Amino acid sequence: MRLYGSLWRNIHARGVPSRYLANMAVQRPCHVTVLGEQYLTDHMTNISPTIVSKLPLKLHTQPSHPLSTLRGLIESHFPSYTHLSSLSPLVTPYQNFDLLSFPKDHPGRSVTDSYYVNKDLMLRTHTSAHEVEVFGRGETKWLLTADVYRRDEIDGSHYPVFHQTEGARIVSANSTGMKEIEEDNERLAAHLEQSSIEIEDVPHLSPTNPCQPAHDPKHTELIAKNLKLSLNSLMLHLFAGRVGATAQNPLKVRWIEATFPWTTPSFEVEVFFRGKWLEILGCGVIYQPTLDNANVSNKLGWAFGLGLERIAMVLYSIPDIRLFWSQDPRFLSQFKQGEITTFKPYSKYPACFKDVSFWLPEGQMLHENDFCDLVRDVAGDVVEDVKLIDDFTHPKTNRKSLCYRINYRSMDRSLSNDEANSLNAQVVSCLRDRFRVEIR
Ligand code: PHE
Repeated sequence: MRLYGSLWRNIHARGVPSRYLANMAVQRPCHVTVLGEQYLTDHMTNISPTIVSKLPLKLHTQPSHPLSTLRGLIESHFPSYTHLSSLSPLVTPYQNFDLLSFPKDHPGRSVTDSYYVNKDLMLRTHTSAHEVEVFGRGETKWLLTADVYRRDEIDGSHYPVFHQTEGARIVSANSTGMKEIEEDNERLAAHLEQSSIEIEDVPHLSPTNPCQPAHDPKHTELIAKNLKLSLNSLMLHLFAGRVGATAQNPLKVRWIEATFPWTTPSFEVEVFFRGKWLEILGCGVIYQPTLDNANVSNKLGWAFGLGLERIAMVLYSIPDIRLFWSQDPRFLSQFKQGEITTFKPYSKYPACFKDVSFWLPEGQMLHENDFCDLVRDVAGDVVEDVKLIDDFTHPKTNRKSLCYRINYRSMDRSLSNDEANSLNAQVVSCLRDRFRVEIR
């Protein structure tokens, strides 16, 4: 669930191996049905049944769900903005990446990182995928909340579906637009001065976070300042009451330089909450070609994108990201729309660990995300986490062997060892069929 900027930097650092195992042994069906429509499949298709089943749920619109309350809280802070929350998750790679100036070889485009219906249609990986479309409709101040999809590992804070709110504001690139921003900046600064907030800032512009060639640096400074003031004020609105911020103990917010292909300068915002710095959002001054793609001329502005689960987890003290998807009344009945309350844990059932260890076919690799999706397809949310515990290459034969430890633990009931064994046997047989591995 890392924000895209840092997530992708991590991937670069790790290095993405070049040869992954395709789902080679299974015959791919010619069609998949997604949200009631049939689509042709192709070599890129990797959307799994578990993921397809999440598409209609839209937790951010379910009354009294914590994600819906959090959306409402953010929207109430931007009352004059247009609020959108029902755009389809199916977008083209062109919308998700190209219109936002992602390079052609960006790792986020790969089938190991994103879900594809086929080569021309994918699940949005971020709400920024709709920026060009929304600006193109003539909207100038808007918020958009939606479910987004990224292939990821399995643990207590990652889930392949999560929710984001995107916010944006553009004004005319002339004295009228700049006056509007200046007045707003004065109002926001006055409000922040009276509040218990401590801000660790970075310059609006720097050699590593420069102004765009198309912009007047004075305009960029004003826009970046407006972005920072607006978001500092949002952080106060979301967190200050919860941490009991006072003059002696202010809410701590820190700004960090970042990079996103569709904003420059760009930033990330972190908030200090219960002893830890929490990554909250990514943002920046919108790259002019993005607005050109929307046929918006003579305007400039800012955009931000914030992950809802991470904030809801700390505000409600929800310990595990799977809980958001729980249909258990012990979860759902705890919450009321518009109210943030502390989650009362119900008993945690025992963990049951099973190891799966196998040889890969010669010269082949298996991406962890492919393994995790297979596990999710077989066992669903009964799996709490999956860890690689052994990775060995035979010195003579050069064959690779992997061992994963799967923790089976239901959120809602006690799993018997027999049940865990039978789920694990299904994982093993599916692994054999799909990837032709040899179980050890
Ligand atoms: N879409 C980015 C992400 O998912 C966040 C972002 C939105 C950054 C808008 C800049 C501007 O990480």
